[in-house]
Amino acid sequence: MSDTAIPVNDLPRASTSTRPSPREIDATLGARFATLPTPKLHGDYEKQGSFLYLDDFLPREFTERLIAAVHAVTPAVNRNYLPGHKAGGSVSRHTLDKLAPFIADLYRSEALIKWLEAISGDKLQLSPEDDPHAYALYFYTRPGDHIGWHYDTSYYNGRRYTMLLGVVDDSSCRLDYELHTRTPNVPAEPGSVQYPPGALVFFDGDKLRHRVTPLGENEMRVSLTFEYVTNPDMRPFQRFISNMKDSIAYFGFRQVFRRKGGKNGQA
Ligand SMILES: [Fe+2]
Repeated sequence: MSDTAIPVNDLPRASTSTRPSPREIDATLGARFATLPTPKLHGDYEKQGSFLYLDDFLPREFTERLIAAVHAVTPAVNRNYLPGHKAGGSVSRHTLDKLAPFIADLYRSEALIKWLEAISGDKLQLSPEDDPHAYALYFYTRPGDHIGWHYDTSYYNGRRYTMLLGVVDDSSCRLDYELHTRTPNVPAEPGSVQYPPGALVFFDGDKLRHRVTPLGENEMRVSLTFEYVTNPDMRPFQRFISNMKDSIAYFGFRQVFRRKGGKNGQA
């Protein structure tokens, strides 16, 4: 594990001169969603045990903004390594807020949340302010970067949903998954996708067993994740476990405990 990212405040801020307003984001997404067969997609999601994949989801102009965000945050990537389970880099919401605020705006889009509610059939809420997974970029940049089989376990009192968006994929990595591992009386069903820029993966974190296979030589892959919950409350012990996992496996102690320490936000 390493925690070598440059302090966020030492980095130049990304230009926000052409940043779309929340209303413009909703209008662009609303126009896109109007072209999607949402009730059918909800049915597909249900049939697949709370999982949906769409290879052409995000409007191209938004995908281009995400790619620009990758360049803006690259100096702030936090590299992490858990032997046998995970290697890669992450940029937490706290850094995205400063360097790529479009991502924060997209995460909060009412049009997006409403559409995800129509797919999931659940009432969704934003993840709490201190959850670094609420929105984050995951970087696969060194040969062997990967994440082993896991669930996106909810430590909240309610369900935790994961939305993944492809941003950069010059790689041979695959998102392997198994549907129905926790559906009683239904056999597990394996699947695998390479999701390109603008593609969507959406699932209930406790239901989809998944992994990302190792990056090859001279490859690069960046994925954006959004997390929504049905109840943002968390019991203290679950909070402790969740924070320790995030510190070690993803963002480093500085990012995860930044709001829990003294006046300067350091742990
Ligand atoms: Fe995951």
